[in-house]
Amino acid sequence: MSYDIERIRTNFPALQREFNGRPIIFFDNPAGTQVPRAVVERMNDAMFHKNANLGGSFATSADAQRLVDEAHRAGELFVNAQHPGEVFFGQSMTTLTFGMSRTICADFAPGDEIILTRMDHDANVAPWLLAAEDRGLLVRWLDFSDETFEFDLGDLSRLVTDRTRLIAFNYASNVTGTINDVAGAARIAHDAGAQLFVDAVQYAPHGLVDVAALGCDYLVCSAYKFFGPHYGMLWGRRERLQALRAYKVRAVSDELPGRFTTGTTNREQLAGVHAAIDYLAELGDGYGNPAGTDLRSRLAAGYATTKAYEDGLTQRLIEGLLTIRGVRVLGITDPANFSQRVSTVSFVAGAIAAPDIESALSREGMQVWDGHNYALEIYRKLGLLEAGGGVRIGPVHYNTVEEVDRTLERLEQVIRS
Ligand SMILES: Cc1ncc(COP(=O)(O)O)c(C=O)c1O
Repeated sequence: MSYDIERIRTNFPALQREFNGRPIIFFDNPAGTQVPRAVVERMNDAMFHKNANLGGSFATSADAQRLVDEAHRAGELFVNAQHPGEVFFGQSMTTLTFGMSRTICADFAPGDEIILTRMDHDANVAPWLLAAEDRGLLVRWLDFSDETFEFDLGDLSRLVTDRTRLIAFNYASNVTGTINDVAGAARIAHDAGAQLFVDAVQYAPHGLVDVAALGCDYLVCSAYKFFGPHYGMLWGRRERLQALRAYKVRAVSDELPGRFTTGTTNREQLAGVHAAIDYLAELGDGYGNPAGTDLRSRLAAGYATTKAYEDGLTQRLIEGLLTIRGVRVLGITDPANFSQRVSTVSFVAGAIAAPDIESALSREGMQVWDGHNYALEIYRKLGLLEAGGGVRIGPVHYNTVEEVDRTLERLEQVIRS
């Protein structure tokens, strides 16, 4: 079965929008993807028909309870949780990480150590820096190579000591697009008796998350990056979550996931996250995946299909960028290594400031992003923070080759002029 891009695009009303008589090109996806109709319909249905508090014996309350339970189950399957109750939701990845960082670090002693990376989005850096300040922890930094844009896990092993309590690590970078070796980092963390907290926000739109295979302790992602609503999701290993102190109201049970669910859950967002997961699974139907198979294998088939398609777009984009004089791509460029990257591509163009490129493209209805994208440490390390960061183009499975070509053509004009 060939990749039916036209059919995929009809799911997204936003993609029909025009700017100055031409379809808008959505390449700002790493900052938030567009939403398929089915997701919005399920959110509407939740608000119209499943709007009651939980715990009543009447029909609407039972419907709302079912919605909540099914969304949690879908979240557990999405990351391959091994036990019920290991997934809970919150306002955003950042909010969840701030909350969990307080709880996780609560029994760390002054002089204990944590390891942060220079490749992470600040949402997986600042919460830990502040916790370190509060508790007198020593922060060690894992650097990446500015040639390969990858970590050397030997460096991570060398940073670990018998005081290391936690490593915060990203699955895929929101700037370089690098996919990192989470399983390797988990082994290093556990050999030292430390925990691994993983930011999978930029990986989840492009690849199947499997916490059982990764062996990490916590993993966070955000549904608005994978075609859902603005809502965050956290998975934690059951033993870890049970051992933590939960800051909760007394009336709520101590069971998982309720002990980490503060206040009334946002029903419509849960419905949307569940629908986004179903959407990703539907992408796998018909691509070598027999109908009626379970959600995990449908998701695996969906991601395998979209990754292959996205790799094609990435290759065309990078090859095109590299032909433009002065352009430097901040990430893996060799297609032979594309299994190590997602389709997020950042670059700088000599003396031309990133905001100028962004605004020149936006005048043509080409939506890209510029600046540091909250990955402060990456741009600081590359010496580009003060200069305004880079330009980021992030194709996903609904973008087209024509969109890549149109953008490259415009870019070449802007940079040449
Ligand atoms: C890699 C990464 N981590 C974390 C975040 C923050 O996610 P949220 O907006 O859900 O707090 C982002 C947002 O861009 C991101 O790209």
